[in-house]
Amino acid sequence: MAHQWKQYTVGTCYYPEHWPEEMWQSDVKRMLAAGITVIRIAEFAWNKCEPREGEFTFDFFQRFLDLCQQEGMQVIFSTPTATPPAWLTQKYPEVLNCRLDGAVYRHGGRRHYNYNAPVYRCLSARIVEQIAARYAGHPAVIGWQIDNELNCEVDEFYSQAADDAFRVWVRDKYQTLPELNKAWGTAFWNQGYTDWQQVHLPRPTVRGTINPHLHLDYLRFISASAVRFCTMQSEILRRHLRKGCFITTNGLFDYVDNHRMTDEALDIYSYDSYPDFAFELGRTIDHNDLNDRSWSMKLTNVRAISPNFMIMEQQSGGNGWTTRLEAPAPRPGQLTLWAMQSLAHGADCISFFRWRTSIMGTEIYWHGILDYDNRDNRRLGEVAQVGEMLRKLQPLCGAAHKAAFGVIRDYDNEWDARVDAWHGRLHDPSRWEIFEGAQRSHAPYDEVWLGKDTEVAELAKYPVLIYPHAGIMTEARAKLLEDYVQQGGTLIIGCRTGYKDATGKCVMLPQPGLLGKLSGSDVTDFTFASPAEEAPTILWDGEALPAPIFADILHPAEDTKVLACHNTSYFKGQPALTEHPYGAGRVLHWGAGFSVAAVRKLLSYTGVAEPFQDVAQLPENVELVVREKDGKQYLFVLNYKSWTETIRLQKPMKSLLSGEVRQGDVALPAYGVDVFEMN
Ligand code: GAL
Repeated sequence: MAHQWKQYTVGTCYYPEHWPEEMWQSDVKRMLAAGITVIRIAEFAWNKCEPREGEFTFDFFQRFLDLCQQEGMQVIFSTPTATPPAWLTQKYPEVLNCRLDGAVYRHGGRRHYNYNAPVYRCLSARIVEQIAARYAGHPAVIGWQIDNELNCEVDEFYSQAADDAFRVWVRDKYQTLPELNKAWGTAFWNQGYTDWQQVHLPRPTVRGTINPHLHLDYLRFISASAVRFCTMQSEILRRHLRKGCFITTNGLFDYVDNHRMTDEALDIYSYDSYPDFAFELGRTIDHNDLNDRSWSMKLTNVRAISPNFMIMEQQSGGNGWTTRLEAPAPRPGQLTLWAMQSLAHGADCISFFRWRTSIMGTEIYWHGILDYDNRDNRRLGEVAQVGEMLRKLQPLCGAAHKAAFGVIRDYDNEWDARVDAWHGRLHDPSRWEIFEGAQRSHAPYDEVWLGKDTEVAELAKYPVLIYPHAGIMTEARAKLLEDYVQQGGTLIIGCRTGYKDATGKCVMLPQPGLLGKLSGSDVTDFTFASPAEEAPTILWDGEALPAPIFADILHPAEDTKVLACHNTSYFKGQPALTEHPYGAGRVLHWGAGFSVAAVRKLLSYTGVAEPFQDVAQLPENVELVVREKDGKQYLFVLNYKSWTETIRLQKPMKSLLSGEVRQGDVALPAYGVDVFEMN
């Protein structure tokens, strides 16, 4: 059941339990005056509703909700399961998560529980039931957040409860020990299992080796555990939900199948956006670097889960914990820029973290809108300005993102790349280079995640799809890609495609394995780039393009064209990029890791670079996003630099923010943003 915000909304995160009750009313009034109309509360406040086991007290939040209703403030209420109380972990230590070496995570931080302890599931279900029964009917409550950031802080689980649950999960998946032994390739190093009790989560081993096929299943198990925990809460909430209210959680952490979780448990997905991580102290800043602009890559991922999403925590101050992380305060204009970045990529509600900086605890440096002194400040001014901008942009609420091409991803390959160092070497760098190449070519893209129900129509929306390094390939995915190309799509694959099956074991086929027929290419030799040789390049139309990390040496089938050749090492002059016509479409095989220059050239060659240049010409430092609604297109331009950039509008266009019609050279000030009607 998808939830769609009816209008752009500004919110904030508030902790009534952190402040004297006498401050509540003035806080809420000041928020409303600044244009904040929704707040998220209670995600770490289990003790406020169940201070002792089985003893429930609801007055605290009741008073707060009543005040919100009276003042006209809407509330997103959270389930408090991210921080189990001390009474709970004292009495039931089996709910605590453990490290690989068996050390137990104790009370005092957060997310110290494991998803599988039966007693934690029971007590979580009970507190959710209690608070939902009590508060879901309250007129101030418009939505629910489940837990807080599932799999954040820690995404590995080694408790006894997790071990027991893993065994059940594995047995359910494989049914028999011979099937399990086959799937995990246990003939290697004499790992064969003769009894289910021998099956365990990864444990400390010599040199830390973990059977990679077991490891891949372990990550799938973590995801299934997180999703099951979320779904359990959602089913309870749903029984109490008022009509029109929604369920969400704030995510994007490793080892969670966010698509499945959203389908099974949520009405809308939320993300917490902190672009200041890009400026964390100690990090070298290169002024050509994308820094905070790289959050657009994460937002692209979020959009692939929930096309219109919400930002539950939007950075509003400088960041740090007492124990780690240091980042500067957002420069004047940056808070607005980052909020607009979220909006451009698909957020319809932006909730700033947090109303006032905490005066206690680990996060005293994780600054909110207001400082400890509680005075109005420039950040509050910017929040109010964001509210003003959103009012002008209201016609765009719910608009769709307009992409020039797509990048394919799937959870098998994501997680295999975490388990397998060879696969991992390519995965993140290529993802980054594709993002940067697209940004600098002003070619907005979407991510297309392949799941078991993905249909070819979802792929066919994009004239060009890049599937960078799908080491794991299945028959079903190969068929889907074949249908896409057959219908006229252009598919670009990178090196190391198709050498594994879904268990992560290698297939005895020429690479790219199941895609060989489609790509019309055969990998006859391959190697990591040698550190003893010059940096690898591929020569394409006389241009030497960086071809990092790995090389596939290709052999073309008869009807396959060689577009470019390797330019370095013992395979210099041999095919590195091929193009194979197939049905109404074609497949390009790039036999290397991706580089920004290679991506830009591939996008130009396939006709999707600079797709809006007839409308606007932008310097590389400016991000372009296009959204469309009711037959109208809107151009977002975002300047991430601390200096003015000049954009060129090719025709007269009205700015929705200033109301002015502009054409020709237009100055976009430091951290400036504008939105133009394109037609
Ligand atoms: C988020 C989290 C918040 C707060 C913030 C700053 O990850 O959801 O509760 O901790 O980071 O650390």
